[in-house]
Amino acid sequence: MEVNPILVLALLGLLACTPWFACSDQRLLVPMTLVRNASATGAYCLDGSLPAYHLDRGFGAGARSWLLQFEGGGWCNDLESCMDRAKSRRGSTDYMSKVEVFSGILSNNASLNPDFYNWNRVKLRYCDGASFAGDSKFSNGVKHLANFTFTVSTNAPGQRIWKAIILDLLPKGLGRAEKALLSGCSAGGLATFLHCDNFTSYLPRNADVKCLSDAGFFLDIQDISLNSSIRTFYEDLISLQGVEQNLDKNCTSSGYLPEQCFFPQYALKYIQTPFFVLNSAYDVYQFHHILVPPTADPHGKWNRCKLDPEACSPDEINILQGFRKDMLAVLREFLEYSRTGGLFINSCFAHCQSESQDTWFAVDSPRMHNKTIAEAVGDWYFGRRVSKEIDCAYPCDSTCHNLIGQAPNNIQHAIRTLE
Ligand SMILES: *[C@@H]1O[C@H](CO)[C@@H](O)[C@H](O)[C@H]1NC(C)=O
Ligand SMILES: *[C@@H]1O[C@H](CO)[C@@H](O)[C@H](O)[C@H]1NC(C)=O
Ligand SMILES: *[C@@H]1O[C@H](CO)[C@@H](O)[C@H](O)[C@H]1NC(C)=O
Ligand SMILES: *[C@@H]1O[C@H](CO)[C@@H](O)[C@H](O)[C@H]1NC(C)=O
Ligand SMILES: *[C@@H]1O[C@H](CO)[C@@H](O)[C@H](O)[C@H]1NC(C)=O
Ligand SMILES: *[C@@H]1O[C@H](CO)[C@@H](O)[C@H](O)[C@H]1NC(C)=O
Ligand SMILES: *[C@@H]1O[C@H](CO)[C@@H](O)[C@H](O)[C@H]1NC(C)=O
Repeated sequence: MEVNPILVLALLGLLACTPWFACSDQRLLVPMTLVRNASATGAYCLDGSLPAYHLDRGFGAGARSWLLQFEGGGWCNDLESCMDRAKSRRGSTDYMSKVEVFSGILSNNASLNPDFYNWNRVKLRYCDGASFAGDSKFSNGVKHLANFTFTVSTNAPGQRIWKAIILDLLPKGLGRAEKALLSGCSAGGLATFLHCDNFTSYLPRNADVKCLSDAGFFLDIQDISLNSSIRTFYEDLISLQGVEQNLDKNCTSSGYLPEQCFFPQYALKYIQTPFFVLNSAYDVYQFHHILVPPTADPHGKWNRCKLDPEACSPDEINILQGFRKDMLAVLREFLEYSRTGGLFINSCFAHCQSESQDTWFAVDSPRMHNKTIAEAVGDWYFGRRVSKEIDCAYPCDSTCHNLIGQAPNNIQHAIRTLE
């Protein structure tokens, strides 16, 4: 089984220049850098291609500040889905766009990205299928099990890719960073939980290092058929890709199962680096794939609700409200006691709000207490004020950019095509 690639990125790709998504005239295009030395440590993508990143240099006061962003894009949890992935842009840099548009938190324009525009900004391409946390040794073991011709091309050493990219960036200035922020969305947002403290360990001791997860707070919940399908999925992923050894040792030695420590709700309290959790309380990806996956709704009773919250029945709305309550419940301790943490949990039907300009920082972008996401994250990073915002429940927020519902037909069509 393959959890579908993030719909948002695909949607943005499809709709980059419709009237609904403002299309900037001066798009910043940043070329890909292959990590040639990765072969020295066997840090290959699923298909054996070299891993890659895109770097746009900082300038002025930001020259010694670094923002690293993990690309997202689902996961693969069995041989078949990983093999399929290896033949696509999700598992091979050969099939990826060689130039990326840097917008939102990656923009270099002060009026579009007020706090990070002049930093060194890096997008880490995702080609391993396990949130940069697997190790190939385990995949080799699978060869025997599956009785499959298992070549180097289906290894999944995400953790090695992470390290290879860091080692490549250190001499380029990351090793002398004064400020740093590790971010990412979706599977990349999950990767920030998994790698946050490891990131800190590579940077100078006196550097100001923090981490931000966008739409990576995947909940350990039962789906509507009471199946713990996401936990089963992660269990398979962890054993296939050899993730266990790379999970937080303090978490796994505290009586949690490895698959639990893959969930941010258990891992978060062991992370020592200051952390910001940005998430929608009705995250569309989690709604469609974790709360109501197709296996839990074989007759498609939820189809209308999945396309438009206004079409949901009262029972369906109750279930969605329950999902929000579950998310807030597991964040409560962090909300109340974390002195260094930040939160922005808005009540939108969204997924990934830091990478696109219209949700990160724009005249009509989502707000809480009149603050945009860019302002909330900046306030937290620079310690300007406590930045912990929790929205009131749906449908109270009128600033949302929902991916379903009021979205024009072409977006709804794109969602249907993707699922
Ligand atoms: C490449 O990797 C090898 C082995 O880890 C190391 O000795 C060498 O310094 C690296 N070269 C560069 C340019 O990073
Ligand atoms: C920065 O963005 C603003 C607002 O979109 C735009 O007016 C301006 O031309 C941009 N500046 C540069 C240098 O691209
Ligand atoms: C498993 O692999 C062995 C050795 O390559 C082969 O003889 C056997 O037919 C395979 N079994 C299946 C079920 O593919
Ligand atoms: C960080 O991760 C890399 C790659 O797995 C590992 O080699 C290194 O020891 C880790 N550093 C710390 C401090 O855990
Ligand atoms: C439960 O979830 C797993 C993992 O997604 C799936 O393979 C299985 O078919 C589901 N079982 C039922 C009864 O829906
Ligand atoms: C575990 O916790 C101890 C004490 O808080 C800390 O010193 C250590 O770095 C942590 N180890 C990991 C792997 O996070
Ligand atoms: C909200 O913020 C905008 C600028 O971001 C400002 O112009 C406006 O006055 C603020 N509104 C309120 C009610 O504070």
